Amino acid sequence: MNTVIDPTLYLPQLARILEITPMTAREKFFLLELPHPLNHRPGQFVMLSRFGVGEAPISITCGPRNDNLLEMVIRDAGSLTHALHTMKPGQTLGVRGPFGSGFDLESLVGHPLVLLVGGLGLVPMRSLIQAVLARLEQFPSLTIISGCRTPADELYREEMRALERLGENNGKIRVIRLVDRTDHLPWDGRVGLVTAPIAELSLDPARTLVALCGPPVMYKFVLLELKSRGIPDDHIFVDLERRMKCGVGKCGHCQINQVTCCQEGPVFRYDRIAHLPEALP
Ligand code: FES
Repeated sequence: MNTVIDPTLYLPQLARILEITPMTAREKFFLLELPHPLNHRPGQFVMLSRFGVGEAPISITCGPRNDNLLEMVIRDAGSLTHALHTMKPGQTLGVRGPFGSGFDLESLVGHPLVLLVGGLGLVPMRSLIQAVLARLEQFPSLTIISGCRTPADELYREEMRALERLGENNGKIRVIRLVDRTDHLPWDGRVGLVTAPIAELSLDPARTLVALCGPPVMYKFVLLELKSRGIPDDHIFVDLERRMKCGVGKCGHCQINQVTCCQEGPVFRYDRIAHLPEALP
């Protein structure tokens, strides 16, 4: 029997870099133009390649959009991402995807939402924030708790501040920005961990849905806090980072026990993975 392989799974689209803007000392914002709209869901990722160097999974940071543009934030954390940071507008990259399950926005509609993010977790979570803001009238409330190490590490500062101000005039939105420490830099948010404000939120365990994205150490403490507030596992979504290689369920690099993260994830409802020893080691 012949096995038919869909070539589009492995064939990148050619994307032109329109803009590269430094955001922090380690992260740069990339705006790409694709030949076709990506039609992605919030929380999905693409496999991004610089030809002759390599390919890596990169989160999509913009909400669903109808044009051919794609926004990403890339941290300089290795040889490929370093090579990406040296590129210039007008140059070409390869894009495969979108891959992964992402968030099912329709299943979130009608629920109060709490989004908890740490550090680079804001990058994929911003795609959900934008998707929710575009349909805000369908959500009773949107609370965002966003933490990072120092003020110099904060991503999307102006956007988050603008949302914070919007929330002051609009009872639906609440934004709490935190840093672990100020390092004597100017800072207009709070100092502390993202777990701290959970105690002050008014949560309805029967209706509130919570989504988490951040460094692995954050999940354990946030999940404990949510449990103490009575939020059931099936009302929590976790965005897990794994080493992706093929992105399409063929290589096994992203396996979490028997679950394939690149296909079933990287966004999981927590009750799906809570029992898996490799999910949150
Ligand atoms: S990255 Fe290859 S199976 Fe998931």
